[in-house]
Amino acid sequence: MSISSASPGHPPQRMHDHSPDLLAMVDNVIDYSRRRLIFDDVPLDKPQPERELRRLASGSITEDGIGARRALAMFENVLAPACLTVDHPEFLAFIPSAPSKASIAFDLVVSASSVYAGSWLEGSGAVFAENEVLRALADEYGMPPEAGGAFVQGGTIGNLSALVAARDARRRAFAAEGRERPARWVVICSEESHSSVRSAAEVMDVDVAVAEVDDDGRLHGEAVRPLLAEHGDAVFAVVATAGLTNLGIVDDVASIAALKGEFDFWLHVDGAYGLAAALLPELRPLFAGIEAADSLIVDPHKWLFAPFDACALLYRDPLGARLAHTQKAGYLDTLEGDDWNPSDFAVQLSRRARGLPLWYSLATHGLGAYRDAIRECVRVAHEIGEVVRSRPELELVVEPELSVVAFRRLGWGRAEYDEWSQRLLDEQLGFVTTSSHRGEPITRFAVVNPRTSVEGVTRILDTMR
Ligand SMILES: Cc1ncc(COP(=O)(O)O)c(C=O)c1O
Repeated sequence: MSISSASPGHPPQRMHDHSPDLLAMVDNVIDYSRRRLIFDDVPLDKPQPERELRRLASGSITEDGIGARRALAMFENVLAPACLTVDHPEFLAFIPSAPSKASIAFDLVVSASSVYAGSWLEGSGAVFAENEVLRALADEYGMPPEAGGAFVQGGTIGNLSALVAARDARRRAFAAEGRERPARWVVICSEESHSSVRSAAEVMDVDVAVAEVDDDGRLHGEAVRPLLAEHGDAVFAVVATAGLTNLGIVDDVASIAALKGEFDFWLHVDGAYGLAAALLPELRPLFAGIEAADSLIVDPHKWLFAPFDACALLYRDPLGARLAHTQKAGYLDTLEGDDWNPSDFAVQLSRRARGLPLWYSLATHGLGAYRDAIRECVRVAHEIGEVVRSRPELELVVEPELSVVAFRRLGWGRAEYDEWSQRLLDEQLGFVTTSSHRGEPITRFAVVNPRTSVEGVTRILDTMR
């Protein structure tokens, strides 16, 4: 086979070499990012039908390219406005994200620095800084000095990775004791656990035993005990949720952790959303028991003011987790040893240094600024709860605990909620979606943005009269 070189007018290095055109392109991209980052009043925006996007933005992929200016203009004028602004103060659906300016700015630096952060060999500086953040979080959560882990893509991969490590630990324990493995492994979680826990069980082909939550909406040890007794050694993990996605309340982790005296299981705490609030001393008692976790997750892209995508995954015994996750191959032999390779702790190999935007923002502002911003979200959510309580047409589903306000509009069915939600978005008043609780349609505000105000949300509530 003979490979010919590119034609003289089209040098193959034209995308990589310095040139006036490429410099201008970098300037334009940085200028756009700068404007977007410091502009205070970014609109909420809304999705566009595909046919509209096809009309305005198709044909961008051609043999010779459309040029940097046209591509950036297409993004700025057509594609970006067709994406919701997640950190808009009135984006209150799902679990939003409100990255600090420092974390967004530093995300640009991470991209510009061409760091591979899967291994210590290639990214020791980045991995060291990420580990400083993981250490600080582990201290906040009362985990032991040897605790550690890695930043992964999100709560879904965090939960999956933790459960894979849990099952592996149980398999190894069975092997060490010469015992026969059960026909099926079982993970216990609550009916209110995040969908990603069931998804992880599906991927792992393990069974899920669902424990009922109490009248207060949380999982208690009393509901877990009978399932531990029923499934015995087949149970490799129990998942407690520190901050339910739908209602924003915290499972009774202490009562679940207390069962460790009676039964042998791995306790995984899914704090993807809520564990940020454990940084507040006044709310820390709600999280009692998390210090007994064998693994836990918290997503900085949810309520620790970092950009997508980042989940901090921590293990009590990271070296055990490493046995479950380290990939082995001739070309990876070089990485074997005691170095801290983030790829050894999760379902991942190549990775960007996704913990660095949080590191930079934390290093810049200090933990105190984080506590203040989280506290403001809790304050605003609780005040909104008061406004809901004061209106006869509205009813709280539960008392707000962290920063989710879940409530119903009396007399409304799913259709009314959906129509109202669409109207809010059409009028750019806010992004709030319909949810459901025990089969009944409800709606909810999730406040993770310290710029969300009681006044702004009250304007939304006014539209429900
Ligand atoms: C409690 C909880 N766990 C896990 C997840 C999944 O996180 P991600 O969307 O980052 O995968 C979420 C997402 O909202 C969550 O609220």
